[in-house]
Amino acid sequence: MPPITRIGVYTSGGDAPGMNACIRAVTRRALVAGKEVVGILRGYAGMIEGEFVDMDRQFVSNILQRGGTILKSGRSTEFRTTAGRVRAAENLRKAKIDAVVAIGGDGTLQAATMLADEHGIAIVGCPGTIDNDLYGTDETIGFDTAINTALESIDKIRDTADAHERLFLIEVMGRATGFIALACGIGAGAELIVVPDQLDDIEGIKDHLAELMSQQHRSSIVVVAEGPGLNGAQTIAQALPADERFQNLDLRVTVLGHVQRGGSPTARDRVLATRLGVAAVETLLEGKANIMVGLVDGKIEHIPIAEVWSRRKDIDQSALELARVVS
Ligand code: F6P
Repeated sequence: MPPITRIGVYTSGGDAPGMNACIRAVTRRALVAGKEVVGILRGYAGMIEGEFVDMDRQFVSNILQRGGTILKSGRSTEFRTTAGRVRAAENLRKAKIDAVVAIGGDGTLQAATMLADEHGIAIVGCPGTIDNDLYGTDETIGFDTAINTALESIDKIRDTADAHERLFLIEVMGRATGFIALACGIGAGAELIVVPDQLDDIEGIKDHLAELMSQQHRSSIVVVAEGPGLNGAQTIAQALPADERFQNLDLRVTVLGHVQRGGSPTARDRVLATRLGVAAVETLLEGKANIMVGLVDGKIEHIPIAEVWSRRKDIDQSALELARVVS
């Protein structure tokens, strides 16, 4: 890899608390190494339009504690086209950006791989998504904040569920994976947790709910992953009225939604984002690219970027079992 003088950094896909802390870490580590840093605005959309901004220490001061992303984010359809990627790569070259740090989830890192493969751009990825669904890292930036935000809401719903002796289906984000549901479900002491793989088995879920009711639970919290069709809770709710076992059920559905994406990052996310941002730049300084930096068993690891989005990170079955035992 030729020597690097200018490093680009961008955030893309769903924003996640801690992205700003990561941007700050990337910028400061690169400046310490004597490199120039360029912020690419609005993810791949801004790369295609050449929306670049020079960054210095001051630019990233006082952002560590802020949610969202100062560089903005988005999901670009144009970047999915060959022409879009050609324009993006040309803009990077014109701006003399030698290498980039991509902060985002699987879509972001898949797109980054295309940029590397088709245009020889040196890329290092930082895992940033509330979903925690990336292979090659135990935790992604934003996950810890998202589950704590969701937990706070679920605890509040518990109060009203208890007062009215109701059953609540609470849907949390996470797309096709159930990492958020599992963590929140355990943390909130949910009577039942439904992860996406289980959404195919509505009869099985109904049996679980019927069992809960027969155990004389006065109120129940069921945490449901949104799942691939993004309406896991509604899918269950719609299946209940036709079943006579649920005739007297006082049911409410709450979809927590985008509140899970906002807010000030937790200490854990700030530290994770800082470690990963610094590691991303150091990876480039070592002359390595096309890698995602991840945290595995507390240590920084390098994972080939293509593996991150092509391999599946599985739910920890023992955690599901744990939830069953204590519910
Ligand atoms: O990937 C992060 C995430 O928040 C998912 O959990 C959710 O399904 C999706 O993004 C929502 O995307 P959008 O903000 O585009 O509606």
